[in-house]
Parts: sequence; structure tokens; C-alpha cells
Amino acid sequence: MQEKILVLDFGGQYDQLIARRVREQHVYAEIRAYNRITLDEIKELGYTGIIFTGGPNSVYDPASPHFDPRILDIGIPILGICYGDQLMAYMAGGVVAPADNGSEYGKTKLYVNDNVLFENVPRESVCFMSHTDYVKTLPDGFTVTAFTDNCPCAAMCDTKRGLYGVQFHPEVAHTEYGKTILKNFLFSVCGCRGDWKMDDFISGAVEKYRRELGSKKVLLALSGGVDSSVVAALLHRAIGDNLICVFVDHGLLRKDEGDFVENTFRGLFGLNLIRVRAEDRFLSKLSGVTDPERKRKIIGEEFIRVFEDEAKNFGEVQVLAQGTIYPDVVESGKGDSATIKSHHNVGGLPDIIAFESIVEPLSNLFKDEVREVGEKLGLPKELVYRQPFPGPGLAVRVIGEITKEKLELLREADAIFREEIDKSAPSERPNQYFAVMTDLRSVGVKGDARTYGYTVALRAVSTDDFMTAEWTRLPYTALERASSRITNEIGQITRVVYDITSKPPATVEWE
Ligand code: XMP
Repeated sequence: MQEKILVLDFGGQYDQLIARRVREQHVYAEIRAYNRITLDEIKELGYTGIIFTGGPNSVYDPASPHFDPRILDIGIPILGICYGDQLMAYMAGGVVAPADNGSEYGKTKLYVNDNVLFENVPRESVCFMSHTDYVKTLPDGFTVTAFTDNCPCAAMCDTKRGLYGVQFHPEVAHTEYGKTILKNFLFSVCGCRGDWKMDDFISGAVEKYRRELGSKKVLLALSGGVDSSVVAALLHRAIGDNLICVFVDHGLLRKDEGDFVENTFRGLFGLNLIRVRAEDRFLSKLSGVTDPERKRKIIGEEFIRVFEDEAKNFGEVQVLAQGTIYPDVVESGKGDSATIKSHHNVGGLPDIIAFESIVEPLSNLFKDEVREVGEKLGLPKELVYRQPFPGPGLAVRVIGEITKEKLELLREADAIFREEIDKSAPSERPNQYFAVMTDLRSVGVKGDARTYGYTVALRAVSTDDFMTAEWTRLPYTALERASSRITNEIGQITRVVYDITSKPPATVEWE
């Protein structure tokens, strides 16, 4: 049976990180909100171990998340982290209280005793703390296994019941031996083997979809982004020509991108691919529109219409495939609210076209795992590691009215900028970098003549999650080369500026 760890989510900010850290050890982990799984389900699902996550509350707060305390006695090892540690102590009959010396936050010196959880962890190391309460009185059967200068119980355990708690966060990089501690929990406490591998995922998924889908026709909106591309490659391996991919080319793609997507999938994989060249349809709908939100809305609606028109041509299509990935699922299932927002990569398609069912083959994978699957399936690196590109495409990078001319100029400038960054390989590698066609013209001089040309802005950002981002300190030499090539090679562009705004207050895209 596949071993798996349950990450029982009590509202902590690091729940996804915990699951990723576990999976990095080749042990499958899944996150479930504490109020979306019952004790009986946990028993039935046959978990190898459980991790209680952190959370923002105090266990005595009436609104704080709790769980059936009988979970401590079902014979599955548990690791409680931060709030999870306090909750474990509270459920087992201990006392949790605000720390005498106030809260501890940040890197903190940790002293550990001999304990299976701390095998190969030095007596003194650094851990990451973020708490106000602590375990003041241990429950019966527990002993203290680590402490800090301010916190007399930084870790505890009841080895007989396989219950372990740590006040600090082993999942964050600031905890020097965090990885070792999690490894000890997985392998020494839970007895995991660590045999969760992407190859097994691929063969399992191929076999499953071949069996379940049989000869049904499956439709996928292929955008050329990583997620839908990996779905295409995976399902193609499972069901071949019964997978129909519709690639809506809205004419708002980057230079040569449409051909690249088409060649990759039709040429390399022999995929059943329909490329709908809908540039005119989109541009005529966008004609004269300058408001960013209107642009997005028009593109979203038109996309559905084009897709719908294509779908009609195939007659009976029973299944829709989507590139939903694990973080989308976790995000949509979070919180106490019963209304779960279902995630659609292509805004609202299932509501419009009637399908028997929807398949989401990547819904258990993190982004880096999706990329690994893509590579193993033979997708080109260029595609698997591509930077994010917004669904509305260059429409949100052409400020003001979108015209064919502005799009064409932007494509060239953007290609030059990306090429120069790739060539110069700066030490701080931006996570996203592109050009923006501003709506601004300015006076310049070329040769002896006055010019009045377009101004292009270059944007490069460094970020982990795109929720916040820093503008990247690109080397002047790379910026200089990009600027001089853009203005020399593209006559109508006479000025290049570099965007030095972080997010917030700006967003990554200009619209
Ligand atoms: P912002 O501009 O919101 O962008 O700071 C954050 C990240 O999201 C991308 N982005 C989009 N992706 N559809 C998408 O699929 C969209 O409408 C969209 N808008 C922004 C953006 O490129 C950046 O990576």
C-alpha cells in the first residue's frame, strides 16, 4: 500500500511547505483542513503518519480549531508543529499558557536531548520560532526533549504513543536541522520507506486514465503553459488520439510562441491538436478598448466562445480535462466557509458546455512536481521551465488601445529583452521578465532627424510566489545592450525605460 502522510491543517501559513518537505523525502503527503476530515475517515484512509500544522490561534480561544482528541490513541504517529504542538499538549491534558518572557520570533538557539526525533541533530543548533503561547505543564506520559533560553519546552514526546511535538518550525529553511528532524519523524518514527516517485505517478496515472476513460473523447484547452502542456502529454500517453487539444491562438502571444506550441505538440508528440487562429476575432472585439478590466473580460468571454464553437465540431465529447494543480485545490478548499470555489483554468467552461465529467490529472502535484513529470514525459525544457505568462497575453502589456502595430513592436522588443537576459545570465535571475508597450510617445533624435516614437518599458521581478515581488537588480550591461538593440533594431521605438517598482505597490503586469 502506498504510504502517505496526512498534514492536518489548523490554519498555519506553512501547511503547503510542510507537505512539500515531506514529498521531497519521496513520501506522499496530502493536506486536509481539520474541519473537512473526520476521525473515522482518517482511520479508514490508512495514513502512515500525521502532522498537525501551526495556526494563528491560542488553544484557549473559543474560536480556535480543535480536533477529536481520540486521534492521539489510534496508533498513528503524530508530529505537532507550533500550534499543533500546543494542541497536542492540550488534548492530552497538559497546560498551555502565554510565555513568561513574551513571544519568541525568528532564529533562536535550540538545545536538544537524546531523542529519536533529534538523531543527527547537534546538541545546539538554530531553529525558527514564531509563538506567543507555550506548553507550560506537560501532559502525563510526555517528556521535554528540547528547550531554548526562553522556552523550557521547545519539544516534547510520548514515545509509547508515538506522539511528538515541536514548538519551532522544522519546515522552514531557517531551522538548520529541520530537514533532518522531519526525516527522523518519517523514517525512524513512522517507518516510511520513501518510495513515492514521479515515475510511479506517471505509470499509475497513465494506467488509471486508460482504464477509466476507455474510448471516451476528452477535450483539453491547451494554452502552452506548463500545467495544460503536462496534462496534454500525460493524457496523450494514456488515450492517444481520443485526446483532442484545442489551442486558442488569440493573437496576443509572444514572438513565435504559437508556432512553438504547435510544433511541439503536433510535431513532437503527434498530438490531435486544433490551433484556432482567432487573432482577428479577438482584435476586433478589443478595438478601441483601453480599460484594463474590460480587456480582460472581453478576452475571457471570447475565449469561451471560440472554445465552444470548436467543441461543437467534435459532436459527442464526454470529458473535459483541466490543468488544475495541488495549490489550486488547497487554496479553494481552505477556511471554514462551506462554499468551495471550484478552480477552472479556463474561466467557467464546464458551466457552459455540458460534459459528463472532468478530469484533473495534476490535482495532487505541486508546481515543481508538475515540471518533473513534464520533463519525464519528454516535453522540451524551454516549455517546462518557461516563465508565467498571463492568460490575456500581451493585451495586458499593451497600454491603451491594442493595435496590430503596437503588438508587433512589443513582440520584437520583448524577444530582444528576453534574449539579452538569457545571454547575460545575471547572478540574480529574475522569475519573470518582459517588455511593456506604454501608451507614451516621446521626442528623440536619430541621425540628424527629430523622432517621435514609442516608449517601451522593461520589467523584471524576483519573487517566490508572485504575491509580492521585488524589481530585479539587473546588471547595467544587460540593460544597456537590451536598450541599444531595441532602439536600433526597431525604428518606431525611440525610448526604453526600466521599471523599478516592487509589488506592492505596483503589480507585476502593468494592467
Ligand atoms: P500581477 O500583475 O497580478 O501578476 O502582480 C502576478 C502573476 O500572475 C500573472 N498574471 C496572470 N496569469 N491570468 C493568468 O493566468 C491573468 O489574467 C493574469 N494576470 C497576471 C502575472 O504574469 C504574474 O506572473
